[in-house]
Amino acid sequence: MTAEATGRADDALARELAAIVSPAHCLVDPALTAPYEVDWTRRFAGRARLVVRPGSAAEVGRVLVACGAAGVAVVAQGGNTGLVGGGVPRGGEVVLSLRRLAGVERVDPEALLLEAGAGTTLADAQAAAAAVGCELGIDLAARDSATLGGMVATNAGGIHVIRHGPMRARLAGIEAVLADGSSFARLGGLVKDNVGYDLVGLLAGSEGTLGVVTKVLLRLVPVPKVRVAALVALSVRPGRGGGTAALLSLVDAVRREVEGLEAAEAMYRDGLELVCAATGLAPPVGFPAADAWLLLEVGGPSDPTDTLAELLGAHPDVLDTAVATDAGTRAALWAYRERHTEAIATLGVAHKLDVCLPRAELATFEANVREVVRRAYPEARLVLFGHAGDGNLHVNVVGPPADDPGPDDLVLETVRRFGGSVSAEHGIGVQKRAWLDRSRDPADVAAMWALKRALDPRGILNPGAVFPGGQ
Ligand code: MLT
Ligand code: ZN
Repeated sequence: MTAEATGRADDALARELAAIVSPAHCLVDPALTAPYEVDWTRRFAGRARLVVRPGSAAEVGRVLVACGAAGVAVVAQGGNTGLVGGGVPRGGEVVLSLRRLAGVERVDPEALLLEAGAGTTLADAQAAAAAVGCELGIDLAARDSATLGGMVATNAGGIHVIRHGPMRARLAGIEAVLADGSSFARLGGLVKDNVGYDLVGLLAGSEGTLGVVTKVLLRLVPVPKVRVAALVALSVRPGRGGGTAALLSLVDAVRREVEGLEAAEAMYRDGLELVCAATGLAPPVGFPAADAWLLLEVGGPSDPTDTLAELLGAHPDVLDTAVATDAGTRAALWAYRERHTEAIATLGVAHKLDVCLPRAELATFEANVREVVRRAYPEARLVLFGHAGDGNLHVNVVGPPADDPGPDDLVLETVRRFGGSVSAEHGIGVQKRAWLDRSRDPADVAAMWALKRALDPRGILNPGAVFPGGQ
């Protein structure tokens, strides 16, 4: 053991936590704690006091009691795929890793429910659902690492929100441990259950500040009989309002004419150029002539290919289309969209802004944000993509130093001018905590503080996340 590890292990709290979770799951060696101390973006990092990996909800409760008595803050962490610094320490906290609470415990294709530990990865839950002809209605590129508990804590979105809503809408129940170590379970899975406040919905999106999710009950949907993906390249004639306006008009048309729209994702030429260069993928259909690309996915009981082809053929801005019906070809089309995040990361540490705009403002916002960022940071690389059908764009600025809040504030100020939300699906974390007060009415923020103080009076749960200045 290094001197630092010995010092950390010697501490009375470390000994108490090791006795609860076993020494093997109380990590003090910096070589072992390091992966828990930096988030996926590499922009947010801090040293943990130590990392505990409880193996049951009871152990989670005992860890919280011990930390509360010692006055030590706790940062809950799932798969560590967060992008706003909400799941990593700022300095001196105990990291509570939920990954050992993994495993699907129940899949019920009649009641359309799946129950699993908070540390279960999305991919494992998807596989268990697929084995009985169902799916979760939620999917995202980080599926192999993202855990269900973390997805609840951040109210994760992903590519199917347009049809099935975000994680909060997929939840039928949870088991959670509160700051004082007590726990509650709502795992009955009833279709209707109106008894008292919606604590399940409240914990969804609370980013580890109100309680720790230990088990998740999710609603399932039957796998559609037919699923079709179409990558549509759009070329816009002058005066027709730009690529985003064109792809939104196409999304509107598909919504009107085709049943079962499951995804409508936006990409642009600069992003696709980067994806192809970074990953070796061949250029997509319509490249480089098109201005924007729309990736559509439709699923339902009957084949939508003919209706879709007719509609795309009649649209004045459609330059070219690639259609895929089998899973392999669909995945090949999805790679262009899903590999944006890793491709951007090859450029350096990105300022990642995940924003949502009103439908009527999205196209103007897209043009405007490009202009203001280019003017302020002419050397920066700017890559936009996102969930166009939800009004959700991911704005990525690479170049300015990671600790410079300037690009973040510039983009978020632009979002505010257009009446949008500064957090569509990634959460507030530490990145956007200064924006809570700027985004909500004073009475709204006061009610959030009242809930926080009532459920976590000692302020041990993820202080410094969500609220400006922390507890
Ligand atoms: C995505 O939609 O791919 C994710 O939100 C990740 C990202 O914004 O980079
Ligand atoms: Zn996203």
